[in-house]
Amino acid sequence: MADFSWATSILVAVITLVLSRKLLSFVSFSARSRRNGCKAPARYPHKDPILGLDYFMTQMKERKEGNSLAGQRDRFARLGHTYEVNSWGTRTIQTMDPQNIHEVLVTSFDKFGVQEMRLSVGMPFLGPGVFSTDGRYWAISRKMIKPAFSVNPFISDFEAFDVHVDRMLKRLPRDGSTIELQSLLKFMYLDHSTAMIFGKSTDILLQKTLDESSSELLETYSAAVSRLGLRILLGRLWIFNAWDKAYEALARRIHAVIDKYIDEAIERRRRRRENPLGQPDPYQRSIVDSLLAISGIREEVRDQLVNIFLPARDAAAVGLSACLFHLARHPDVWNKLRAEVLSIQGPLTRQALLSLPYMQAVLNESLRLNSPAAGNRRRCTQDCVLPTGGGRDGKSPVFVSKGDGIEVVMGAMHYDQEIWGPDADKFRPERWLEGSAEELSSFYMPFSIGKRICPGKDLTLAENAYVIARLMRQFKSLENHDPVMEFVELSKLTTESRNGVLVGLILEDAS
Ligand code: HEM
Repeated sequence: MADFSWATSILVAVITLVLSRKLLSFVSFSARSRRNGCKAPARYPHKDPILGLDYFMTQMKERKEGNSLAGQRDRFARLGHTYEVNSWGTRTIQTMDPQNIHEVLVTSFDKFGVQEMRLSVGMPFLGPGVFSTDGRYWAISRKMIKPAFSVNPFISDFEAFDVHVDRMLKRLPRDGSTIELQSLLKFMYLDHSTAMIFGKSTDILLQKTLDESSSELLETYSAAVSRLGLRILLGRLWIFNAWDKAYEALARRIHAVIDKYIDEAIERRRRRRENPLGQPDPYQRSIVDSLLAISGIREEVRDQLVNIFLPARDAAAVGLSACLFHLARHPDVWNKLRAEVLSIQGPLTRQALLSLPYMQAVLNESLRLNSPAAGNRRRCTQDCVLPTGGGRDGKSPVFVSKGDGIEVVMGAMHYDQEIWGPDADKFRPERWLEGSAEELSSFYMPFSIGKRICPGKDLTLAENAYVIARLMRQFKSLENHDPVMEFVELSKLTTESRNGVLVGLILEDAS
């Protein structure tokens, strides 16, 4: 009996403490919000106001059904372009308002971070690096990887990429029969990006059967990424996953594989130093080699490699697939673009491709409608004010307190009829060649904006244009063989087409 009353007293004390802290923080939050002239944004009508589980379940359902972006757009239409949800007990602002997106990603960049969400959840697999940190360490990381993206010959011409594009083209049926392009392009980009990042290609396209499991790197990476996805989904409850021994074992295996690549790169550097006039080495400018030229610390190089491969892995292939998905459904656009591509007489150089206005318009338009990354999540690290979204009319500033979450949903903004016009839902590349194109560009951000803009942007756009041009030089048309016309999403770390890209390719001289 005595034990019971002790336990009850302790419980009551804990509950009182928690509630009074909540009350105090609410009072202080309201005072700071008022001082800054802010008003509350619309609130998601939660059934579970404590943890917001109902919101989480809605999101899970949408992911399962492949319509997450439509769900987000619907909530913005009902609640306004900025609203508040409870995500696992954390106040989280959802916004598709361009002014607010700009505030988070550009103007108040230093007040919104990713480290708390990515590094603590990602360790030990995802250590400190360009994708997982903020502040000084992030700035140093960004500087460290810059040369790899700017002077890399993989970027300035397509010589190294060509090997993989040739292998992909060889696998395409020439009789117009159905092929699923998205998975083939993923393998092509995996072979290319592993060569570019780790200095060693997975060479999957050389195998008879295409299968990731033949590569220890890819197999372990995929397993770690899907466990990482679960940890991210669990939000602050990820701590329950902290004793995830399987995750730790996977991290050890991946690090051991990457360490072998680092050893090979160290050996390449030694050979180059001893024999500077020897045979040119195709991997001399791979990202691992560039990083080793700057840092001699193995763990640092390894962590940066994991940090670059994570956002790079599927994004380029998924973005290109979305473009081919639309081209297969718009033969008029294919024909117009092909005429432009065939006007290039000589080799397909980066410069020649960049000077094709319709090519740029087509790439822009497909990434507007189906970006592999439709949103960016951040955690507020210092109190901040968003310019708009508060009050009944949604026009007052909104107060964001340290610790609040924020998700900027560029993907929803990319469909806003007030910006893109009444045909915002349509794939119409011509909009990028009309008078309003320059204004539209300021609302276009599939690669994010600000200091954290994707460093792979220029590389991806040039390579995707190159693949499309190579396809167009060989095939006169791309037929859609998928009975489902709309884009059904499959959300992983990136958002891809659930049904892939089912097409038939018709040769130039097939008739
Ligand atoms: C269509 C293709 C791609 C798209 C749409 C894309 C999009 C993005 C976006 C939106 C971010 C910002 C993420 C955030 O701040 O939360 C990002 C970051 C990043 N991307 Fe890409 N990406 C693509 C391809 C690539 C490629 C091919 C590479 C590397 C070879 C790459 C490397 C990175 C890295 C390292 C970051 C982290 C940058 C930082 O936090 O400072 N991306 N990407």
